[in-house]
Amino acid sequence: MSFKQIGVVGLGIMGAGIVEVFARAGYAVTGVAESGPAVTAGQSNLAKSLGRAVTKEKLTQDESDEITARVIFGEDFSLLANCDLVIEAAPEILSLKTQIFRQLDAVVKPAGILATNTSSLSVTDIAHATNRPAQVVGMHFFNPAPVQKFVEVISTAKSDPKVVAQIAELGTSLGKHLAQISDQPGFIVNKLLLRYLNHAVQILDSGQGTKEQIDAAMRELSNYPMGPCELLDLIGIDTCVEILKTIHADTGLEIDKPAVGMVELVAAGHKGRKSGAGFYDYSQSAQIPTDSNESVKKQIHNDLLIAYLGDCIAMEATGYAAKSDIDSGMRLGCGLPQGPFEVIDSMGIESVRAAQAELAQRSGVTDYQPLAF
Ligand code: 3HC
Repeated sequence: MSFKQIGVVGLGIMGAGIVEVFARAGYAVTGVAESGPAVTAGQSNLAKSLGRAVTKEKLTQDESDEITARVIFGEDFSLLANCDLVIEAAPEILSLKTQIFRQLDAVVKPAGILATNTSSLSVTDIAHATNRPAQVVGMHFFNPAPVQKFVEVISTAKSDPKVVAQIAELGTSLGKHLAQISDQPGFIVNKLLLRYLNHAVQILDSGQGTKEQIDAAMRELSNYPMGPCELLDLIGIDTCVEILKTIHADTGLEIDKPAVGMVELVAAGHKGRKSGAGFYDYSQSAQIPTDSNESVKKQIHNDLLIAYLGDCIAMEATGYAAKSDIDSGMRLGCGLPQGPFEVIDSMGIESVRAAQAELAQRSGVTDYQPLAF
């Protein structure tokens, strides 16, 4: 199939970003959201992002205008009827996504492919809400979608391999690096990333460090582009809580239970940047967290890094993903300077395993124990 007309349902941060990715690549895009204000917000997200690129002289005003002209926005699902592919980017609520897929199945032409940008929910469950499960896949982008160069393509037992191959080809045409994987909660990146983010908030909740110390630890000692609390604010703390609930329901592990600090912020309406405040207040200009307590930062950095590297080793050992896909996912999906297996290679696997055992013993959390090979 040659893709010409692309639909996007849901115009929040991710939906608007996905609209921009396709429009920049020359596709005609239809963006649909559930209400007038949601459509307006999506339009303004696109305009803001293109405006930033023009200010930075990455795009000319004419190019920006051409990209904008490729997109039409609306509230009516029937606008999507002729789309070759529709990507759903609605909130992480399974009942909402299945309802959207039932509607899409009813209006989109029979040959159309339907994809979900779900962060962690079962693509299989979503596919089964339609009468065309062979034409349903996951196409998982990373925030900000125009910047992060990684996409996970998720197939279910029912996905037609030809459809999966077409979606992979399309993803490559967008300039993205792809990993093709099966359907598991959190896929590659979110399974690893969300446990790391949750661990950071567990450290915060336990009083072992402040949010500034935690963020500065990862920025300064591993050169991460953002600290975990800043990143939670970027993704949306409410979204992160939902992803963790899905992962926790699957693993049953205490370390995957959403940390209290996150749940409380969401209850207070502090969902991160999109609501004006989360761990940080965004009514003022951006703050780069700093802290001079080197020993606290070193301990926090050690604990977050070692637990995360251990998870990467375990993921590869289960056969779910290859080292190269895990490395690409974390580098190109989250902007990390190195993939975890590059870090493990430079530290030596035995020293990572010894540090895992030390962390498990000191914290009393047996889930941090190294795998028995
Ligand atoms: N939309 C579009 N472009 C954006 C953007 C946005 N929201 N934010 C930043 N950019 C662009 C800028 O225009 C700039 O482009 P240029 O290099 O062409 O000039 C580039 O990104 C760098 O931006 P800045 O210089 O303003 O800022 P930073 O250098 O601090 O980078 C960042 C910002 C790209 C957000 C970087 O901090 C980063 O990569 N952070 C990690 C983000 C991450 O981990 N994302 C994955 C989260 S997990 C996920 O999304 C999955 C989901 O299911 C939960």
